[in-house]
Amino acid sequence: MSNWVLEKRSFDSKEAAADGNRFLCANGYMGLRGVVEEAGPSLFPAVTLAGVYDQYQDRWREPVNAPNSLFMQLSFNGLAMTLGETEAVSHCQTLDYRHGIFQRETDFGPVTVSSQRFVSMAETHLLADRYEMRFRSDGEMTLIAGISTDIWDINGPHLFDWQFRAGEALSAWAVTGEKRITVAAAQCVSLDFEAEETVEQRASGLFRVLKRKVKAGDTLTVSVFSGVYTSLDDADPVKAAERLSLQAKEKGFAACIRAHRDAWETIWERCEIVTEGDEAAALALHASQYHLNCIAPRHAKNLSIPARGLSGQTYKGAIFWDSEIFFFPMFVYTQPEIAKSLLRYRIETLSGALKKAAEYGYRGAFYAWESQEGGEEGCTNFNVVDVFTHRPVRTYFRDKQIHISADIAYALRSYYDITGDRTLLKDGGARVILECARFYLSRANGHVDSEQADFADVIGPDEYHERVTNNAFTNRMIRHCLESALLLKDIFADQPEAFTALLQEMEYEKDWQLLPALLGRIREPRVKNGVVEQFDGYFDLEDCFLDTVRSRLCDPREYWGGDHGVAGTTQIIKQADVIAMMALFPEAFTDPEIDVNWRYYEPRTEHGSSLSACMYALTACRVGRLDEAWDLFMRTANIDVVGGGKQWAGEIYIGGTHPASNGGAWMIAALGFAGLRMKNGKPEIHPNLPKQLKRLRFPIIAGGERLMVEVTPEGGKIVQA
Ligand code: BGC
Repeated sequence: MSNWVLEKRSFDSKEAAADGNRFLCANGYMGLRGVVEEAGPSLFPAVTLAGVYDQYQDRWREPVNAPNSLFMQLSFNGLAMTLGETEAVSHCQTLDYRHGIFQRETDFGPVTVSSQRFVSMAETHLLADRYEMRFRSDGEMTLIAGISTDIWDINGPHLFDWQFRAGEALSAWAVTGEKRITVAAAQCVSLDFEAEETVEQRASGLFRVLKRKVKAGDTLTVSVFSGVYTSLDDADPVKAAERLSLQAKEKGFAACIRAHRDAWETIWERCEIVTEGDEAAALALHASQYHLNCIAPRHAKNLSIPARGLSGQTYKGAIFWDSEIFFFPMFVYTQPEIAKSLLRYRIETLSGALKKAAEYGYRGAFYAWESQEGGEEGCTNFNVVDVFTHRPVRTYFRDKQIHISADIAYALRSYYDITGDRTLLKDGGARVILECARFYLSRANGHVDSEQADFADVIGPDEYHERVTNNAFTNRMIRHCLESALLLKDIFADQPEAFTALLQEMEYEKDWQLLPALLGRIREPRVKNGVVEQFDGYFDLEDCFLDTVRSRLCDPREYWGGDHGVAGTTQIIKQADVIAMMALFPEAFTDPEIDVNWRYYEPRTEHGSSLSACMYALTACRVGRLDEAWDLFMRTANIDVVGGGKQWAGEIYIGGTHPASNGGAWMIAALGFAGLRMKNGKPEIHPNLPKQLKRLRFPIIAGGERLMVEVTPEGGKIVQA
């Protein structure tokens, strides 16, 4: 099997949800789950749209799924050829990571169905499918091809008042319940055979019904072209969708797929990590880079990426710190225009963050923990459902995970450090950093008997310990945020008037004076035998093994955190926390410091989040723990190849793809194995190549220059690309 292709040679409906994620095709505008054409809602088909949200009644607001405009159902001699219902002799499906092409071949006995489809990387709004039927006996076939409005939603329905139109293109459109956004899909087909054709409007959509007699040995092919638009994209989304599907039909499938492949080639030219030495690792890296690239908002200048990408509606389609800390590094080093879009989303949603801070009685910008459109907070007070009582559990992620604002400031600063480009700071980025710093000024707690400032009642990356004081990670991020705010003056040293004017306009003069004062007072964490205490009092918690905590579970889906969670009273943590801090500030810690902390925290970490392993891998590289780094790298990079990761948080389904791990895989290879970092505006490398790899090569853009990083066991170099 090529190290570019994911293949599965069987079908099990119980695995359909996980496979829908693993075989995802997407282009940043929409994601098409990897299920077969004839799949009904029980197999979770979905075309998930980026940045379009809807709330139904009092359920969770989530992204909207467009109708399934690649729906096809073949019947032969009256028998429906439906995978999972009709017995199949064999089924194979593949995903080509290089070109984002999904293929299936199912031998149903009398007929074999094979198809090839993609979400166009060249045409933002286009889906296309080439569907072939090879008959082994004479008979009569009926193919239903159309737009299915039988949509799988987690917290829906979201689309109402369906309307249909049938011409050369079939179209279906409806409006979202909350904001009345029109979502439209149109579809054209081109057939290489004659058939009796009728159009039927049914409760589940609008379909073309194609009937004809076939003979053993006949091969018939249908190409489907579908345009998907919303009223956020075009004033007349129905016409736009129809126009695009007609144009695509005119061009033909071969030309459409060629343009799509070429667009992917251009992406790979800019970011492909080439490795030699381990085929499984090469496949896993291709998978990771594919998954992150296919959900990047290339069509927009101000969109970010949801925590589960475009693989469905889990995690409410919300934007978390994953964007700035885990997705951002690959983009900023390879496709900075995408990194810019992620940050512009934050700049443009500043008003939401100001509003949230004010709601909690603070000043400045407190960004949403789960950000939706306009920076709206999607995180509810009850984010988990208890498996025993079936009652919602009060969680404090929304209120207390205050590191989010500093994470955004961290990425804004990195953007400047890596690209040398000040425009983003000028166009709102500086204001964001200053408002985030202002939030921390108002959020700090003073102690009457101390010169020091605490950050009490917070949650760090380890969500199992809620409402703690002085989380080391959070305090370190806040310090960096304040430093970045102060540094702005130097960055704009050549425009002192403009900078002063900005401070004046923001009524910031007094706060500006307070920044250095707070910076000097933020409490340093306690350190015991070289180990940084994760938060005040952490060392006093029960120190036990992960297995001990696991053995206390009464239900495998039980939530480990919150008031009654098994981890809360112990030192067992959900994900990298102190180690995440060390990974983000490698220069602030010595190798022995990192090593001692790594050895302490790793056995106490559940890795219950896909954001964890990569942080441990990065720090393991740094201290030469290359065997451990390798295992953690494979775990990270393979996550959407094997389809692992947690599927449930209490009673809530959280499955999907794992863009944070996908970005983590790039980080481990580039920042860990190659040891890439910026020093005074120039990239440098400090290779830590594991023995499994004979070569590592990848392009970057740093300081405005296109460069190539090459690492072999003999050493490494950065050359002009
Ligand atoms: C993690 C968070 C993360 C979120 C989305 C949670 O399980 O604890 O750190 O941001 O998932 O990926």
